Amino acid sequence: MQYRRLGKTGWQVSTISMGCWGIGGQWGPVEEAEAIRTIHAAIDLGVNLFDTADSYGLGVSEELVGRALRGRRDGVYVATKVGNFARRVGAPLSYTTPHHVYLCCDASLGRLKLDTIDLYQCHIGDLQDPSVFLEAFERLVERGKIRAYGISTNTPAVAEAFDRAGGCAAVQLNYSLLNQSAAGDLLPWCAANDIGTLIRGPIAQGVLAGKFTPETRFDDSVRAGWNEGRGREQFVRRLEQVEQIRFLERPGRTLAQAALQWVLANPAVTCAIPGAKNVAQITANAAAADGALTPDELARLEEIAAGW
Ligand SMILES: NC(=O)c1ccc[n+]([C@@H]2O[C@H](COP(=O)([O-])OP(=O)(O)OC[C@H]3O[C@@H](n4cnc5c(N)ncnc54)[C@H](OP(=O)(O)O)[C@@H]3O)[C@@H](O)[C@H]2O)c1
Repeated sequence: MQYRRLGKTGWQVSTISMGCWGIGGQWGPVEEAEAIRTIHAAIDLGVNLFDTADSYGLGVSEELVGRALRGRRDGVYVATKVGNFARRVGAPLSYTTPHHVYLCCDASLGRLKLDTIDLYQCHIGDLQDPSVFLEAFERLVERGKIRAYGISTNTPAVAEAFDRAGGCAAVQLNYSLLNQSAAGDLLPWCAANDIGTLIRGPIAQGVLAGKFTPETRFDDSVRAGWNEGRGREQFVRRLEQVEQIRFLERPGRTLAQAALQWVLANPAVTCAIPGAKNVAQITANAAAADGALTPDELARLEEIAAGW
């Protein structure tokens, strides 16, 4: 495993960290025992940051992280989020007062069975006014309930507003071979301001593993939108793009691992947080940290992406 400094926090976090949305049940069923084995395997492989959210499975993901970390908390960073609870079931909270954030924080701490959350992230990517969250996060730091805070967004103006007092420790953003736009704006801004970055979607929700075909149908609630209409069109277009980069696959390196190495080739990236649902996935993902794409491969990928 390799480690990089998470911006001003100074924490050394694993370049391959773990996204825990998948174990929350919305990506298809995951047995509790397998979810816990996956987190334990991750720790054994040197993964030291786990990203979850109160909304993932309406708290199920946080509960599983809490159960898995019992007795194994030392040296591990826990990142969670507030702002989307119950949004997927059509009943989000309003977050119009810091008190909503305090309640959510206490609920997360309870599910995680922790006294302190290391990184607390605002989960509203198009947040118009950061005042409520900034006030709440500053108070939560003072009370020792969180150590640092950040926001999950791909919009530079939203990130800049969130860092207006210089307190934003990290930005979580979507960045992958199939979604490179942050390379041109948000990632350089984070680097210039010493803000750590957590990369979500680094294998494009499984597409960059090269395992899907135009016949693949999805029965999980997150990817069900890829079965019909515009979602289907985009999915099929992405499969064509994946075929163009299959040359990255070779003995000892899968396409998913190459996709993770492409993300890590950007120096503004602190860590990728690929979602893993089982021990085999986290083992393969963690191994990607110890390899790198060659300059020739990176140049060829740049040429290909220029045609997209
Ligand atoms: N707004 C936000 O803040 C936000 C939004 C999305 C995600 N996130 C965070 O980012 C994390 C990762 O992003 P993501 O879940 O969207 O996408 P991702 O990491 O690109 O893809 C994860 C999915 O790919 C498949 N996979 C993982 N490793 C694999 C491997 N080695 N080989 C083949 N398939 C593999 C798994 O699904 P299957 O096995 O079912 O294919 C897994 O659930 C999440 O867990 C969450 O913590 C945050």
